[in-house]
Amino acid sequence: MAPEQRLLASIRTIVLIAPVALMITFFAVYKFSWRVKEQPFPFPHNVHAGTRQIDCKYCHRGTDKGYMAGVPSVSDCWACHQNLMGKSSVDPNANVIDRPDVQRLLKDYVETKKEIKWYKVYDMPEHVKFPHKAHINAGLQCVECHGKVEDMKVVTMNQVPHMGWCVGCHRQKNAPTDCTVCHN
Ligand code: HEC
Ligand code: HEC
Ligand code: HEC
Ligand code: HEC
Ligand code: HEC
Repeated sequence: MAPEQRLLASIRTIVLIAPVALMITFFAVYKFSWRVKEQPFPFPHNVHAGTRQIDCKYCHRGTDKGYMAGVPSVSDCWACHQNLMGKSSVDPNANVIDRPDVQRLLKDYVETKKEIKWYKVYDMPEHVKFPHKAHINAGLQCVECHGKVEDMKVVTMNQVPHMGWCVGCHRQKNAPTDCTVCHN
């Protein structure tokens, strides 16, 4: 083969192989590192906090009261969902009729007195104190730390809560930065 032919052949090989290699790489990265662990029960934030505009604090009652934001129990879900079947919402065009499978799933959990074991997205190490109350009372919004949860079907971490991030904002907003403020 003449040198230019060899060059052409190798370019052709690269052009053919590169997309395949890229696809394999993307798949591997997606599968092994970006993949979101599945919750035991589908709970779409975009439907509840987005389309239906239910207030974050309606479900996360602890945010302005203590350390943990807290997650509602199944009986809280059911209290609202048992009234959805076959009824229209305030907006007659919205046609809120619950899916029978969702009704059945929730009812099963309530009747067997089981709680849904949600996996945690955010999980702070034991040696750190993070009081939601102090932040909400200082006027911070959920979106500043958690991103636009109302658009998320599955909650993903918006910001890794590392020490530099906490201290950076504390400095900026004149919040305390002594070690013992955040550590026991
Ligand atoms: C204050 C009322 C309310 C509460 C509390 C509530 N939901 Fe819902 N949920 C709704 C409404 C309204 C819909 C939309 C139904 C529709 O559009 O037909 C819905 C829809 C759903 C859907 C179906 C979403 C879809 O894409 O079709 C699931 C699953 C669901 N809810 C699970 C839950 C779980 C789990 C909880 C408790 C953690 C919960 N809901 C708490 C009102 C509520
Ligand atoms: C109808 C009830 C409901 C509403 C309204 C709601 N959430 Fe949630 N939220 C849940 C449930 C149930 C979970 C646990 C399952 C999951 O992670 O999706 C959760 C999980 C979360 C998590 C992840 C917690 C963790 O570390 O595992 C964040 C962050 C969160 N919600 C923020 C918000 C914000 C911000 C809003 C308002 C924009 C909001 N939520 C509105 C019920 C609700
Ligand atoms: C200053 C940043 C910040 C703000 C503002 C904030 N959060 Fe959080 N949130 C965090 C951090 C950090 C964690 C992890 C704490 C932990 O694991 O103990 C967390 C954890 C959570 C969790 C899961 C663990 C728990 O505490 O139950 C939920 C749910 C949650 N936040 C909801 C909300 C909602 C709803 C709002 C708004 C009303 C809000 N957060 C405002 C930083 C924030
Ligand atoms: C977006 C800004 C912001 C971020 C991010 C943030 N904080 Fe704060 N934090 C504040 C503000 C503002 C206050 C209220 C200060 C006050 O009341 O004077 C506060 C208060 C606190 C307090 C209570 C202080 C006291 O007076 O007792 C603790 C503890 C705390 N934050 C821990 C953390 C930890 C841990 C993180 C990271 C996981 C974090 N914060 C991230 C802004 C932030
Ligand atoms: C505003 C809150 C805040 C303040 C103030 C703070 N820390 Fe932290 N620190 C954290 C958070 C959140 C973590 C856990 C996340 C991480 O490792 O970055 C942490 C982690 C650590 C760790 C463990 C690191 C590791 O790799 O496990 C050490 C050690 C530490 N901090 C020491 C200190 C010392 C010393 C001070 C005072 C000079 C201090 N911290 C002040 C929030 C804070």
